[in-house]
Amino acid sequence: MRFARYGGPEVLEFVDVEAPHAEAGQIRIAVRAAGVNGLEWKIRQGLLEEFQPLRLPAGIGGDAAGVVDEVGDGVTDVRVGDAVFGSGQETYAEHAVLTSWAPKPEKVSFEEAAGFPTPFETALRVLDEAEVRRGHTVLVNGASGGVGSAAVQFAVDRGATVIGVAGPSNQDYVTSLGAVATTYGPGLVDRARALAPHGIDVAVDVAGSGVISELIDLTGDPGRVVSIADFTAPAHGARVSTGFGRDKTPALREGARLAATGRLTLPVTQTFPLPQAGAAQAASATGHVRGRIIITMP
Ligand SMILES: NC(=O)c1ccc[n+]([C@@H]2O[C@H](COP(=O)([O-])OP(=O)(O)OC[C@H]3O[C@@H](n4cnc5c(N)ncnc54)[C@H](OP(=O)(O)O)[C@@H]3O)[C@@H](O)[C@H]2O)c1
Repeated sequence: MRFARYGGPEVLEFVDVEAPHAEAGQIRIAVRAAGVNGLEWKIRQGLLEEFQPLRLPAGIGGDAAGVVDEVGDGVTDVRVGDAVFGSGQETYAEHAVLTSWAPKPEKVSFEEAAGFPTPFETALRVLDEAEVRRGHTVLVNGASGGVGSAAVQFAVDRGATVIGVAGPSNQDYVTSLGAVATTYGPGLVDRARALAPHGIDVAVDVAGSGVISELIDLTGDPGRVVSIADFTAPAHGARVSTGFGRDKTPALREGARLAATGRLTLPVTQTFPLPQAGAAQAASATGHVRGRIIITMP
């Protein structure tokens, strides 16, 4: 899938192009499924042009799962034929180059594994930056989407108590992930306080829904509030976490270990065949995704 100009979902075209090749330190996979992330419709729309200018036409997509079919110089941990998932470039495609990867757990489908990379790396990075530990109470604002679902499960696995904030239709889902669920909207601070009589140690804002001051109110310290999507956070003394330039491999491996045990799952709630990637991105842009949206090969 490629786009020659910035715009709505309709600018994405299903075209035949030369397959890319793995350079040193990279692998190429025959893609079985690609994960859809919020960042991708923003790139297509041109919202990131200032920070990340593209040479158009360009492909799109950062996450995928598939079977290794080319190994670049210096890569020794995988062979042609191995099933992997990971991050790279232009993954909404039949073949894509990955720059970080981990073996796909056998019991996990290609579709589910394609949804892992960005949520795993982001959720683990944020929990590390916020120094989440056993015994902490952690609030996750936006707990039902890709990053939120991963953050809840990783935090529970670390021995934290998690309050998961999501919409009314996702309360049971968030509870099933191991969190105590509550809804967003007016009264959030009172509801969260009632659920955390010993206080909230850390608040992670995944949704970017404009509640940084409420989260600071809840933790009592802007240093214990981290957002991945609200760029006003620093004005309040809180942090924004970005993953630019980081090696994602350790997070992918850590997440794969937990997924292999069945203690972490990112349910695939919507799938779209590759030529309908525009519709997949439109579904992502609603901002109300439960679990993961995945692109499958036709
Ligand atoms: N900085 C980084 O490194 C980084 C990395 C990855 C993603 N991101 C950004 O982080 C954001 C979330 O990514 P994602 O992939 O997890 O998104 P997603 O899968 O689309 O999930 C968004 C979630 O936000 C919830 N939500 C919507 N309105 C809300 C509100 N007012 N209050 C609280 N929650 C609300 C939705 O819950 P309901 O459906 O229940 O309403 C949904 O579960 C996106 O903006 C993405 O671009 C940043």
